[in-house]
Amino acid sequence: MALILIVDDDPGLRNSFARLIEQDGHVPLTAANGEEGIARLESDRPDLVVMDVRMPGMTGLEALARMKAKDPATPVIIMTAYGNTDTAIEAVNKGAFDYILKPFDIPEMLGLIAQALDASRQAKGHKAQPSPGEGPAVALVGQSRAMRDVYKQLGRLAATDATVLVQGESGTGKELAARALWSYSDRKSRPFVVVNCVAIPETLLESELFGHEKGAFTGATQRRAGKIEQAQGGTVFLDEIGDMPLPIQAKLLRLLQERQIERLGGKGPIPVDVRIVAATNRDLEAAMADGRFREDLYYRLQVVRIVLPPLRERKEDIPQLATHFLGLHAAAMNVQSPGLTPQALAALADHDWPGNVRELSNVLQKTLIFSRGLAIGEYDVRAALAGRSPEAPHEIGAEAVQAVEEYVRQAVAAGGPDLFGQVTDRFAALVLAEALRITGGNRTQASKLLGLSRPTLLAKMEKLGLTVQTQVKIGDTLS
Ligand SMILES: Nc1ncnc2c1ncn2[C@@H]1O[C@H](COP(=O)(O)OP(=O)(O)OP(=O)(O)O)[C@@H](O)[C@H]1O
Ligand SMILES: [Mg+2]
Repeated sequence: MALILIVDDDPGLRNSFARLIEQDGHVPLTAANGEEGIARLESDRPDLVVMDVRMPGMTGLEALARMKAKDPATPVIIMTAYGNTDTAIEAVNKGAFDYILKPFDIPEMLGLIAQALDASRQAKGHKAQPSPGEGPAVALVGQSRAMRDVYKQLGRLAATDATVLVQGESGTGKELAARALWSYSDRKSRPFVVVNCVAIPETLLESELFGHEKGAFTGATQRRAGKIEQAQGGTVFLDEIGDMPLPIQAKLLRLLQERQIERLGGKGPIPVDVRIVAATNRDLEAAMADGRFREDLYYRLQVVRIVLPPLRERKEDIPQLATHFLGLHAAAMNVQSPGLTPQALAALADHDWPGNVRELSNVLQKTLIFSRGLAIGEYDVRAALAGRSPEAPHEIGAEAVQAVEEYVRQAVAAGGPDLFGQVTDRFAALVLAEALRITGGNRTQASKLLGLSRPTLLAKMEKLGLTVQTQVKIGDTLS
C-alpha cells in the first residue's frame, strides 16, 4: 500500500483516478494545481506523484522542477497530451520517473505506478538530475511505444556526460537524436560539432579531429585547432564511427579515457571538456570480429546505447511524421500544406521504408510536387514511391492500356442502342469517381484535378448518378 498524490485541475479525472487507485490497494491524495501539489508533497509525504502538465497557473513541468528540488527521491509520473514530444522529453529530463499520454490506458497506468513505487523503494536518496538549458530545440516526432522509450532514454542521458552510441538503420534519426541529447543538456550554450568519419579521407580526418601545429605535415602552413577543441564545453557527434580508421580509434580511446588530446606535431596534451556522441548504422561487432574496430573502444562505446527502431516497426508514427514533413516542405516551397487522403495514408503505411524517416520525408516532398496544391491522394503517393516524374503523371502501363482496349472491343462487339453514350459515360463515371476518391470526396479539389469547373463537375455527377461515396468499376452497369 502506498500514498499516491494526484495533481490535476480536472475534478472528474481526480475523482475517477482516485477510485482507481483505491481499487488498486493504495491511498489517493489529490491536489487541483501545482502549488497545492507542492504543498501536499511537503505536508503529506506521498510515495508517488502523478501530475498533469497543462494546468492553470503553474504548469506541471514547473511544479515537477520544484518538487524535484525539494524532494528528489519521490518519483513523479507526468501525464501529457498526445503528440507533445517536447514535453515528454523535458519531463523525463527534469527528473520525472516517466510520462504517460492522456487519455491513458488503465493497465498501463497501474503498471507504471507499480514500477515507480518499486524503483523508489530501491533508490531512496537518489540524486536529482540537473535542469536542462532553456526551451526545447529539437522536435522528434512520433508517439509509438518504441519512440517513447527512446525519448525517455534521451531525457535521462541528456543530463549526464556519458559517452553515448546511437545505433539504427540509415535515416532513422540518429543525428537528430544526438542533437536532442545536446539541446537538452547543460552543454547547449556550447557548440554541437559534427564529424563524419566516412566523408573525410583518413589522412585528413586525424587533423580534422585533433588539429595540427604549423609544419606538422606538408601543407600545414597554419596552426589549426581540430573539431574536438572547437567543441570545448559542447558535444562532438562522430557520425559513422564504424568507418573510423584504427589509428584514429586509438586516439579517440585516449580522449575518452584521459579527457585530453594532442594536436598533430603538437608539444603536449591539451585538456578538453567535450561530450562524445557516436553513431553507426553498421554492425560494430562484425567490424570488431574482422579486426576493423578496436575491442576496447567497442566495449567503451556500447555501455550506453540508444537504438532507433526502423520505421517499418513503428508504422503508427507515419501519419504524424507525414503531416510534420508536409508542413516543413510546404513551408520551404512557400505553399500551403495540403492534407492527405485516407487512401494516401494507407499507401504510405503499405510501404516498407528501407530508407526509414529520411525516405518518408523525401517521398512526401515529391508528393507535394505531384499534388499541385491539391490534397495528396493515393496516386501521388504511389507515383512518388515509384520514382515517377511529376512531369509525366499520365504514363500508364501497357497492361492497363490493353485491358481498356479489350473492354472497348467487347462493348462495341456487344452493341446497344446508345453505344457511344454508354461507353463514354462509363469512362466518365470512372474518372470522376477516382478523382473524388483520391481527394477524399472534396468536390472543389476534384474539379481542379479534373480541369473542370465545379458546377460542371456537379452537373456531370448528377447526370451520371454519382455521389461522393459511389465506387465505380469498369464492368458496373450504370443506372
Ligand atoms: N522522429 C523524427 N521526427 C522528425 N524528423 C525526423 C525524425 N527522425 C528523423 N527525422 C528526420 O529525418 C532525416 C534523417 O534523420 P537523420 O539524419 O538524423 O538520420 P540518420 O539516422 O543520421 O541517417 P544516416 O544513417 O543516413 O546518416 C532528417 O531530416 C531528420 O530531421
Ligand atoms: Mg546521419
